[in-house]
Amino acid sequence: MTDLEIQQNRQLFLDYCHQYVHREGLDKLLNYLEHTDFFETPSSTKFHLNVRGGLCKHSLNVFETALSINKCILLPKQKSGESIFSEPLSEESIAVAALFHDVCKCNMYKVTERWRKDEHNKWESYKAYEVSDDFPFGHGEKSCYIVSHYIRLMRDELLAIRWHMGMYDVGEAGTPNRFSFYAATDVSPLVVLLQMADMASSHWFEETFQ
Ligand SMILES: [Fe+2]
Ligand SMILES: [Fe+2]
Repeated sequence: MTDLEIQQNRQLFLDYCHQYVHREGLDKLLNYLEHTDFFETPSSTKFHLNVRGGLCKHSLNVFETALSINKCILLPKQKSGESIFSEPLSEESIAVAALFHDVCKCNMYKVTERWRKDEHNKWESYKAYEVSDDFPFGHGEKSCYIVSHYIRLMRDELLAIRWHMGMYDVGEAGTPNRFSFYAATDVSPLVVLLQMADMASSHWFEETFQ
């Protein structure tokens, strides 16, 4: 990603935050993010958007996708009385959950040197990312912890961020984690909405770089 793209994504992220989130402490949360590598770090080491600037771009993708799913699928069904959940989601809650769901990844990916063979079978070094987590509190849990330090999260936002990894992070069948995950999906449509938007963004729109 170029410096210009990273700058544009940063600006769009800040614009979305100010447009959709009107909550005490937002400026402090954004100030915290500015002092981390949030706008420059990748979204993963080996998978979707594993490039500089990937995490911010992924957060934008998840938010835009969540808004679209809500507008095109969930909301019309709620209006026609066909959804189990009758209360429409606020766009503020969608923004909070989507834009901040992966802040646990801040300051976690370090650049390292790896080696591979080039087309002439000669060794060459290349830059890659590796994980170095100084607060391994759990993926969704850590995002909840960080965001809650600055803004008050609603119950459905907490549940959505906590369980956004869906079935990838729920433990074995029959465990308390699995029961809590299922129960959370019954509390608010935001829980499944965030999972869907996260999966769709990662697998539909975000390239993996070798
Ligand atoms: Fe995540
Ligand atoms: Fe994500």
